[in-house]
Amino acid sequence: MDSQPNSPEARDKKYHMHAYTNARRHQEVGPLIIEKGDGIYVEDIAGKRYIEAMSGLWSVGVGFSEQRLVDAATRQMAKLPFYHNFTHKGHSPLIDLAEKLVTMAPVPMSKAFFTNSGSEANDTAMKMIWFRSNALGQPERKKIISRKRAYHGVTIASASLTGLPNNHLSFDLPIANVLHTSSPHYWREALPGETEQQFSTRLADDLEKLILAEGPETIAAFFGEPVMGAGGVVVPPAGYWEKIQAVLQKYDILLVADEVICGFGRTGNMFGTETYAMKPDIMVMSKQISSSYLPISAMLINDKVFEPIADESNRIGTFGHGFTAGGHPVAAAVAIENINIIEERNLVDNARHVGAHMQKRLGQLTSHELVGEVRGVALIGAMEMVTDKATKAPWGSVGALGGLVNGILQQNGVISRNMGDALAFCPPLIINEKQVDAIFDAVEKSLDEAARQIKA
Ligand SMILES: Cc1ncc(COP(=O)(O)O)c(C=O)c1O
Repeated sequence: MDSQPNSPEARDKKYHMHAYTNARRHQEVGPLIIEKGDGIYVEDIAGKRYIEAMSGLWSVGVGFSEQRLVDAATRQMAKLPFYHNFTHKGHSPLIDLAEKLVTMAPVPMSKAFFTNSGSEANDTAMKMIWFRSNALGQPERKKIISRKRAYHGVTIASASLTGLPNNHLSFDLPIANVLHTSSPHYWREALPGETEQQFSTRLADDLEKLILAEGPETIAAFFGEPVMGAGGVVVPPAGYWEKIQAVLQKYDILLVADEVICGFGRTGNMFGTETYAMKPDIMVMSKQISSSYLPISAMLINDKVFEPIADESNRIGTFGHGFTAGGHPVAAAVAIENINIIEERNLVDNARHVGAHMQKRLGQLTSHELVGEVRGVALIGAMEMVTDKATKAPWGSVGALGGLVNGILQQNGVISRNMGDALAFCPPLIINEKQVDAIFDAVEKSLDEAARQIKA
């Protein structure tokens, strides 16, 4: 098919630059073109079916064929296809969604603010935090602490918050005022003999040392995903959030919980904030808020954040920030319907129960010769692969083994994603145990094939 000049593959190579893709390599390998989806499955242009074990990009919670979301979008599109929320204007879907989010928040929140993507939401959070520091007469309080391996997006500010080399290299990032503290990857970064609690204590000490070295009066906020996603599905070690939050409280530093992946059921509670007893001042949401049927993101802010910002907007005459499509009515209508579906069908319970089965199947992989560690909670997890379990050494360069197994798994009908040598699993919330078994039967088969290829 590829040899024909007008095939979709050929036109893709000719006209389309892909996100997160080696653009030169793409000219050789071409695209996998997905044509349609149903439930947890997607189908490519050649008619091959796959289980989408990543929910697209950690996001299609209710699966790929939810008619109620199509209907909600159609109804809203026919009634009011666009309106905005600048200069005191508004519309009903956004009011309904704001009320829904503020009232369902697991910690007291005051207002919702709407954007289009996780990156924009984190970028906005950072701007709000700076605006607030100025409002409080603390212009020096501008530094933001994030973590190595964090993922908060790709705009200039949110890519700076992200703690991964590929988001900084050749982009001249991170920008000033963004600091990265240690990542909570216990298996990779704990010292020999260190327990999870001891590791968490050491990380909290690292954070405190950083704050003291920089000057506590210069630190405005700490950003963290309850469970790190794109950094390799890093589940916090025992005691981690408790100890980190104690340090933040000691120096009156705001906590931003980036719930872009964890939100709306992924970790077995509605929010990761609940799973890990976090008390954020700002919660950032996207992806599963609308099951990504349409782009929308939201931030919830508490009074500690809102009140000074409101005063400063009054002093200046406006809060000079907002996106044309931020809180788009069609996306907002879809988000409300999506959250209703998650609640009505108890998909959070499903994530917990079927997630327990997924964690069991994941756990069984540790006996495989190529699997160094597995980790996860509810319906999110990863296996990290090595060729030498004792030294945790990669096969050649980091990511080579992850790429090999991921490729074989795709041929075997399951779409996953390797972040380096960690292969992630984040299936739609609607998945059942039999379907989880189908994923992990394919994973086992793919690991065996990879082991054979490596030895050949
Ligand atoms: C935790 C987290 N925050 C932010 C983002 C950025 O979201 P977006 O790609 O919509 O800009 C992502 C995307 O994967 C994410 O996982």
